[in-house]
Amino acid sequence: MVIQELLDKKRLKKELTDNEISFFVNGVAKDEFKDYEVSAMLMAIAINGMTDRETTTLTLEMAKTGEMVDLSKIDGVKADKHSTGGISDTTTLAVVPILASLGVKMAKMSGRSLGFTGGTVDKLEAIDGYKTDISKDDFIKNVQTIGASVISQTDNIAVADKKLYAMRDVTSTVQSIPLIASSIMSKKLASGADIILLDVKFGKGAFMKTKKDATKLSKLMVTIGKNAGKKMCAIISSMEEPLGKGIGCTMEVRDAVQVLNGAKNPLATVSKCICVEILKLAKNIDNKTATTLVEKAISDKSALNKFAEMVKAQGGNEKIIFDLSLLKQSKSKVDVKAKTQGTVCEINGEMLGNSCKLLGGGRFKKTDPVLHEVGIDMEVRIGTKVNVGDTLCTIYYNDDKNVEEVKNSILNAIKIKNVKHVKKPKLIYKIVR
Ligand code: URA
Repeated sequence: MVIQELLDKKRLKKELTDNEISFFVNGVAKDEFKDYEVSAMLMAIAINGMTDRETTTLTLEMAKTGEMVDLSKIDGVKADKHSTGGISDTTTLAVVPILASLGVKMAKMSGRSLGFTGGTVDKLEAIDGYKTDISKDDFIKNVQTIGASVISQTDNIAVADKKLYAMRDVTSTVQSIPLIASSIMSKKLASGADIILLDVKFGKGAFMKTKKDATKLSKLMVTIGKNAGKKMCAIISSMEEPLGKGIGCTMEVRDAVQVLNGAKNPLATVSKCICVEILKLAKNIDNKTATTLVEKAISDKSALNKFAEMVKAQGGNEKIIFDLSLLKQSKSKVDVKAKTQGTVCEINGEMLGNSCKLLGGGRFKKTDPVLHEVGIDMEVRIGTKVNVGDTLCTIYYNDDKNVEEVKNSILNAIKIKNVKHVKKPKLIYKIVR
């Protein structure tokens, strides 16, 4: 078999066989092809698409190019969740302790901040002492004894995805539904859980800008997971504005702890919805029973105590979970005030995420350090009525170098118009099972 035959077939919109897909993926993992051969294939897939069968094979072959994590030593049902990425999207930090306190084993490998979006691993490292790079044995031990562990994803998961992703980034082939679905699902299948819940975001602060594309991606990923023998669910949720109040690591830890303390807000709504869907799959129970269990885990503080237990087991200072004033603080802060009167009609999450990056709260290069204590705390949401001089948000910073630029960018990101009402985006648009 030679790659040119496969390129010819894909260019002519013909289906690749399982053997051909396996040949391509393994060749990529072993660096057997030239960059121009791989990019030609990616572009042909991006333009001509793939059938569900082709995408499923692509995903399974990509998963097999790295370690397939074995969670069989852990008793009980193991679950994992994944968000396609957004702004102030801190559901993992709330969902993992809630479910672990209800007996679902949460073995979760997470990523760092990428582009304009935040990363769970950076957020956890804002908790003084928390180690995200513990050994695989300690990871398994923590899940078995405490019920949960969140660590950073190791480099040897889905090796082909790493190479393909880097190539997609520079060939304008990131935005292809079969390529996104296989990239996400190859890593999830390799992570070994029995249940996979996907939180697929749409809107200005998300990868998928429309509900239609988010629905297409969700259905495809659920199909791939089911074909691989997993229990699957995808929640399609809005990222038309930041989910929580804080944008930046320490502020997002605070938001998650507030959910565990019973806060009622959009972050709590999406987090609880994820917990309910996973519990239904894990325990074979109905929606009402699952909802009652989730509410009880919060009201009796068992989820909050579980979070503290998780933090302690990974070397973190668990006292922070009960006293948020112990979180590291930025050196300075400044309020951004409204210059016009009206109603907040639009909040561009991507611009806010990039502003947080400019303050040092995100990465421009993979090797950049992240300042956990800097970021933006929002005081408005879509629909908030404001007068001139009202605080829209507070910027937390250490160095005033980029603060003026960030202020201007925030004022452009928050659109205030002279209208009485705006249509609030529906938070949870659809659930795909
Ligand atoms: N996240 C991934 O892991 N891969 C993609 O292609 C897009 C988002």
